Amino acid sequence: MAVADMELFNAWIQVLQLSNLKQGQSVSILTDPGTHPQTLSTAIAATLSLGATVTRVDLPAVNAARSLSRDKTAYVGSTALTGNRAAIAALKASDLVLDLMLLLFSPEQDEIMKGGTKILLAVEPPEVLVRLVPTLEDRRDVLAAAALLEQARSMRVTSAAGTNVEFPLGAYPLLKEYGFVDEPGKWDHWPSGFVATWPNDHTAQGKIVLDCGDIWTPWKEYIRSPIELTIEKGYVTSIDGGLDAEFLKDYMGTFNDPDAYAISHIGWGLQKRAHWSVLGLFDKEATLGMDARAFAGNFLFSLGPNNEVGGSNNSPCHIDIPMRNCTVALDGVEVVRKGKLCEELNQ
Ligand SMILES: [Fe+2]
Repeated sequence: MAVADMELFNAWIQVLQLSNLKQGQSVSILTDPGTHPQTLSTAIAATLSLGATVTRVDLPAVNAARSLSRDKTAYVGSTALTGNRAAIAALKASDLVLDLMLLLFSPEQDEIMKGGTKILLAVEPPEVLVRLVPTLEDRRDVLAAAALLEQARSMRVTSAAGTNVEFPLGAYPLLKEYGFVDEPGKWDHWPSGFVATWPNDHTAQGKIVLDCGDIWTPWKEYIRSPIELTIEKGYVTSIDGGLDAEFLKDYMGTFNDPDAYAISHIGWGLQKRAHWSVLGLFDKEATLGMDARAFAGNFLFSLGPNNEVGGSNNSPCHIDIPMRNCTVALDGVEVVRKGKLCEELNQ
């Protein structure tokens, strides 16, 4: 569905104001051939209208020959910025980078933020951006959940489908995604609405049973047949089930990388304007699937790298799996019960 330029412009204004963009600050807009033209043009207009200076850093496409998927999250770490000192210098000299390309999990992203530059990723289609434009209430909800997760030393996830897994916590920082960047050196993703962290290295233990209707990326589809993942010492050690298990085994095997099987970020969705059913309404090549990652009450876990938070796993294979109907407990206290936020259950 077409989005009016003015609507997306106004959404950018809201995001930039929530991100405390001030007159005279410098904004770099990072683009590549996959950048949505309307997202770019309205970002430039909104940034200029708030009195900031704008530099567009347009980089060539990379990774096409290495990745099996057209989804940019399917092959991470190495980007068009890798080794490009001129572009990195421009981004580091900026107060704010609008990433309309997708730098996720790249060391260059860390380098840019260390100097205080903020980075906001925005690659979902305009229809999704305007529906899920972030608010202060989103930030409040995410920070409240993060306060619970920050103190926890273990997360246990269970489900009627057979999931029963324990993740010892405490070694890694949190990911608090609420969709705008209001602090120096912060990274965020518009749209968002979830919290996550990474389990301590080599400690996650148990079983995750992906049920019909759970979602996996980069396929961006609903799982059709249950998959049983055995987790030992932080790694998936066996993948059992029918057709979808075969898909997963085959795809992960193509990376020929033992670190692809590590448990990566784990957390839960908080965004009430994101919905489980939306993924089925979009052309899968048009969306990253943020509704799936953020819908309230999901349990989102992933496989692959943890270098984003200082770990040593830099696998290029990254698979996000939002699950329904799970119960998530922190140190024995439930925060999600059978796929519903406990705060909602208590209202
Ligand atoms: Fe992820």
